[in-house]
Amino acid sequence: MTAPSVRLDFLEHDVSLREPARLRERSDALDWLDTCLALGVSATPDEARLRQRIEALAAELQAVDDALCAQIRQAIQLGDGALALRPWAAAAASGADEDDSSDRYDHLDNLISGVLAIGETTEPLLPLDEGMVFYQPSPARHILHMLARLALGEGDVLIDLGSGLGHVPLLVAIATSARSIGVEWQGAYVAAARQCARELGLARAHFEQGDAREASLSTGTVFYLYTPFGGDLLRAVLDRLQLEARRRPIRVCTLGPCTQSVARESWLRALDASRLDRPAIFHSR
Ligand SMILES: C[S@@+](CC[C@H](N)C(=O)[O-])C[C@H]1O[C@@H](n2cnc3c(N)ncnc32)[C@H](O)[C@@H]1O
Repeated sequence: MTAPSVRLDFLEHDVSLREPARLRERSDALDWLDTCLALGVSATPDEARLRQRIEALAAELQAVDDALCAQIRQAIQLGDGALALRPWAAAAASGADEDDSSDRYDHLDNLISGVLAIGETTEPLLPLDEGMVFYQPSPARHILHMLARLALGEGDVLIDLGSGLGHVPLLVAIATSARSIGVEWQGAYVAAARQCARELGLARAHFEQGDAREASLSTGTVFYLYTPFGGDLLRAVLDRLQLEARRRPIRVCTLGPCTQSVARESWLRALDASRLDRPAIFHSR
C-alpha cells in the first residue's frame, strides 16, 4: 500500500470535510482515496489495516455526498429546486472567469449526477448517421453558468438539440421558471430522461425522440447545442433556426467546436465575442 498515512491521518481528522458545503474538498479527497485503493495492495497486516481505514473514510465521505443529493432531490420534488441549487449555481458563476474552456468534469458533475440519479439505459443504441456526435454530457458548471447568464423567464422555452440524457432540459426545469424540450436521436436516452423528470416531478421538462433536422422548433425561444452534430447536418439545422429567427427573436447557445461554425452565421451576433470558449450566447439580429 503506497498511501501516505500522514495525509490519511489529516483527512480522518478534518471535521470540515463532513460539512455538506465542502463538496469540492470532499471530491478531491475521494479522488485521492480512490487512487490509493487502485494503486495499493494489502499483502501485509499493516497494509490491510491502512486499506480498511481508506475504505472506511471513503464510505463516510460518500455518505455525506449521498445525503446532500437526497436533500436536494427532496427540495426539487417539493418545488424548491432553484433555491436548493442556488449555492452551486453561484459557485459555478464565480469560477467562470477562470480561463476554463475545457470539457473536464468536476465536483459539480458528481453533485448533478447524484441529484438527477439517471439510471442505466437498457435499450440498445441506434447507429449514428453521418455527422452525428456520440453522447457526452455538458459539464455541469457550464450549464449552471449559462442558465445564470440567460436569465430565462416563464415565457421562455429552451430546446436542447441533441439532449442526450437530458441534463440541460432537466436543470432548466429545476432552476428556472422556463419550459424545456430535449430532442434526442437515441430513444434509450429519451426514456431515461423522461423517467428522471417523472421522479423529480418536473412537469416543465419534455423529451422527444427524433432527428433535430425534423423536430418542431416553433415554440423555442432559446436553442442549445453542445456540438451534437457537424457538417451538412449542422448546416441543415442552422438553416432551420434561421427560418425561426425570421418569425421571432431567438437565442442560440453553443458549447464545443460547433461554436466556431455558429459564430460565422451572419444572422446571429455573439453576446460576448471575446469569450466564445465557454457556453457562447448568440442573439438573432
Ligand atoms: C455531445 S452530446 C450532447 C448532450 C446534451 N446536449 C448535453 O449537453 O448534455 C450530443 C447528443 O446529440 C445526439 N444527436 C446527434 N445527432 C442528432 C440528431 N440529428 N438529432 C437529435 N439528436 C442527435 C447524440 O445522440 C448525443 O446524445
